[in-house]
Amino acid sequence: MDQASGLKQMLSAMSGRPAADVPSAHQASSLLAAVPAARRHCRTIAVAGGKGGVGKSTVAVNLGMSLSVAGHDVVLLDADMGLANVDVMLGLTPSRHVGHLLDGECTLEELMLPAPRGLRVVPAGSGARRLAQLDNGEHAAIIRAFDELLQPPEYLLVDTAAGLSDNVTMFAAAAAEVIVVVCDEPASLTDAYGLTKVLSRDFGVRRIRMVANMVRNEGDARALHQKLARVSDRFLDVVIEFGGWVPHDERLRQAIRRQCAVVDLWPSSHSALAFKQLAGAVDKWVEPDRAGLDRIAFFGGRATPVGGVPR
Ligand SMILES: Nc1ncnc2c1ncn2[C@@H]1O[C@H](COP(=O)(O)OP(=O)(O)OP(=O)(O)O)[C@@H](O)[C@H]1O
Ligand SMILES: [Mg+2]
Repeated sequence: MDQASGLKQMLSAMSGRPAADVPSAHQASSLLAAVPAARRHCRTIAVAGGKGGVGKSTVAVNLGMSLSVAGHDVVLLDADMGLANVDVMLGLTPSRHVGHLLDGECTLEELMLPAPRGLRVVPAGSGARRLAQLDNGEHAAIIRAFDELLQPPEYLLVDTAAGLSDNVTMFAAAAAEVIVVVCDEPASLTDAYGLTKVLSRDFGVRRIRMVANMVRNEGDARALHQKLARVSDRFLDVVIEFGGWVPHDERLRQAIRRQCAVVDLWPSSHSALAFKQLAGAVDKWVEPDRAGLDRIAFFGGRATPVGGVPR
């Protein structure tokens, strides 16, 4: 099916009207052309870590907002289903969550909540047991819902839960890039290794970017990377690249207590400057070639950008 007829069918499905009522293939193609080329390719980055409390949500929120401050259109999906944190961290009060999307009670666009600095958030539900026990068909339905966005964002960041459940691996493997957040604790390293092993062995992920959090300096961050990369180089078929680092910063804790992102509240703090630097680095990452990918992926149907080769 060509892109225009795909769009036509999608519009029909979304509006509930028969295909004859929706734009013709030619009109649909013009509609697609109206979407700026730069916007048609969405870069997807999952933030994972294996261990709880290492700073996954902190990195997802502050990296997302830093990219947004830099002028990018960014959506952050809270994929910690059942124990949503992102809305609490940003002081948002969602009235709906992905459960409503799965039940067909709202569209993905309707779920998106505006957060400070232009960031948009797709909230997970909190305390909803059903969301914590989604089956793989439901994970796939959430991932596929992004395909139907007429105007995809430039960046989709996905904050994942702790552990190795399908809730984590499905969402992480569906993104083009996976950031694994690690802090200087033995359990953080072993959990990061465990997650990397599952993603590479069971999902064919070939590259991970490690971000060190709560470290003192770049030297300590690189030492952590060395430890992780040394073991994975030896035993796994995956490359762990050094993605960046964020210092331990009391300001960041204070910002979380005030339900704000540190990059919004104290943009000159050490951690906010580190997130700005990380966002600059992320924007230069060259995405892996996802042609022939045989797993469910965000914007899977658009692995090849319409507007050209990704930066
Ligand atoms: N760079 C940092 N400096 C100081 N404190 C930090 C930093 N990063 C995270 N923290 C602290 O660690 C706590 C846990 O962070 P966060 O909620 O982002 O972890 P998580 O990995 O998402 O946890 P979970 O697995 O429960 O989802 C934060 O509430 C904050 O107090
Ligand atoms: Mg979290």
